[in-house]
Amino acid sequence: MNFINTIEDLYNMLDKYTEGVDWNTFYAKRDKPAPFLKYNKLPDKCVVDFIKEHNIRNACEFGCGEGRNAIFLAKNNVYTEAYDLSEIAIENAKRIARESRAEKVVFKAGNIFELDLRDKKFDLIIDSGIFHHLTPHRRLQYRDMVSEILADNGYFILLCFAAGEDGADEVDDYEFYKCRQTGTAFTRERLKEFWKLKFDIKELRKGENVVEARMWESEFLYICVLKKA
Ligand SMILES: C[S@@+](CC[C@H](N)C(=O)[O-])C[C@H]1O[C@@H](n2cnc3c(N)ncnc32)[C@H](O)[C@@H]1O
Repeated sequence: MNFINTIEDLYNMLDKYTEGVDWNTFYAKRDKPAPFLKYNKLPDKCVVDFIKEHNIRNACEFGCGEGRNAIFLAKNNVYTEAYDLSEIAIENAKRIARESRAEKVVFKAGNIFELDLRDKKFDLIIDSGIFHHLTPHRRLQYRDMVSEILADNGYFILLCFAAGEDGADEVDDYEFYKCRQTGTAFTRERLKEFWKLKFDIKELRKGENVVEARMWESEFLYICVLKKA
């Protein structure tokens, strides 16, 4: 029998009713037309632009996939820790890092909600596509976690599905629990409303369709640069 004694027990119960994408199968089969698979060695344009203008010593990436942003940061002298649920994605990330001689990056497979990051402080945290796959209850925990491990004046770069584009539909948070979605799209207003509780919103813009030799960006995403308040 299962009992709910703590908030974590409640979250675990809700997780059981809202299981999403099987990410190991996703990375093994590679049969979905996801641009982050196609361009798995190119960082996001906003990350490249940000690094040109800021002096960042260390960074953390949540839901790093095959490591395209984390490897770019490491090659630009930023010590980077990168986490992803999928062991297959992390094995691929480690191989790509070795092949491209990126040494300042540590990849680890695991659920970000099971990490103990309490003693860590990062100048920069990157989320390129994990937030929009989180359930509403985990989003709350995620916002606290990102804020707690950001250094004072630290930045959070978030890329997530934009409502009205091809990536996913906007989903009411109550409806979410009746009909589990694999991804949720956000409006500009909803992103502001959610993140302003812990962050100053420095930039919030729609992506453009750009693919260059060394980076890419897509119009189906919002790009947010947030600063710890
Ligand atoms: C849309 S993919 C983006 C991957 C990568 N950021 C990129 O852009 O190439 C979302 C990633 O989040 C990871 N993910 C989802 N939930 C997670 C969790 N609770 N803990 C760690 N990683 C998670 C998935 O395994 C997947 O690799």
